[in-house]
Amino acid sequence: MTLLVIGSTGTLGRQVVRKALNQGFQVKCLVRNFRKSAFLKEWGAELIYGDLSIVESIPISLYGVSAIIDCSTIRANDLHDIELIELQSKYILIESAIKAGIKRYIFFSIFNSFNYKEIPLLTLKLMIEYRLKISGLNYTIFHLPGSFQGLISQYALPILDKQFIWITNEYSLIFYINTQDVAKMAIHSLSIDQFNQNTLPLVGNKSWRSLDIINLCEQISGRRAQINTIPVYLLNLLKNFTKLFQWTWNISERLAFIEMLSCKYNTSAQMKEILYILQIDERELEDLEVYLQEYFERIMKKLKELNYQILSNKKNINPIEF
Ligand SMILES: NC(=O)c1ccc[n+]([C@@H]2O[C@H](COP(=O)([O-])OP(=O)(O)OC[C@H]3O[C@@H](n4cnc5c(N)ncnc54)[C@H](OP(=O)(O)O)[C@@H]3O)[C@@H](O)[C@H]2O)c1
Repeated sequence: MTLLVIGSTGTLGRQVVRKALNQGFQVKCLVRNFRKSAFLKEWGAELIYGDLSIVESIPISLYGVSAIIDCSTIRANDLHDIELIELQSKYILIESAIKAGIKRYIFFSIFNSFNYKEIPLLTLKLMIEYRLKISGLNYTIFHLPGSFQGLISQYALPILDKQFIWITNEYSLIFYINTQDVAKMAIHSLSIDQFNQNTLPLVGNKSWRSLDIINLCEQISGRRAQINTIPVYLLNLLKNFTKLFQWTWNISERLAFIEMLSCKYNTSAQMKEILYILQIDERELEDLEVYLQEYFERIMKKLKELNYQILSNKKNINPIEF
């Protein structure tokens, strides 16, 4: 099976490419910048030029492809093109997939999005979900919660950088998952019929309150967090001014995204069933504690090396020059 991965330079996409190559799939990556994507070629993937905002580049990228995994999403600096990238290009991708007789199509949407139809990005995602459902393609739509990787910029870096962390005063529970585990399950699902024409949440094992994640980061890093709390009613006011919801964008959007991802219903039974079908033991999914421990160990080691280098450079400086 030859896969076309779209969004392969992104947080999830690169993990999908790596897992697929490890599993012996031939992998093509639709990329808009060959220099930025060179690492994918080094891993063994084939690079094909394509840009979702240049829709003519899409159909030709499907040549020789049997499955599509779409991990793309709009970047913050392309917001003016949101409809083109999140809707029109994806409609064309689906039409082209039908014409090309694509055997499997995986799309990633956002957990809980049907409760937030007033948000443009989520509405566009829902429209693509609907288009896939009536396409006749063998699609799988995965609804994703927050990612472990997103927590680094949200909590870990501000703690290391002595910056404020913003949280809401509502202590709702949110699921987080490592994108490596999402990639593993998505690749695994390609060969399992129960995933055909199905929409499923991939939420991981455990839900967290923001404060518990901050406490965990504090314990592991040995540093104190500086926390600012924003009342939910104020956030709701701010939400009316936001257009999109993504990690790493402005604070109100990020908090609103967290608010949206909070678990209003229990998905653990469904997750257990998915793991059962995939024959993956839930202990194989990485725990957030382990992920953060490894992250902080790596970063602390780097910081120590950097400090050591600065100190030894200072010692070598001629006092007159200094
Ligand atoms: N991250 C989360 O916590 C989260 C939560 C829920 C759902 N999801 C969904 O999961 C999927 C993956 O998210 P992610 O966080 O991995 O995304 P990401 O890191 O922001 O990556 C986005 C990818 O889309 C590509 N892309 C954007 N515009 C493009 C264009 N015009 N032409 C071609 N490629 C383009 C980017 O390529 P460049 O490198 O060239 O910009 C990049 O490879 C998305 O569907 C997202 O909505 C993510």
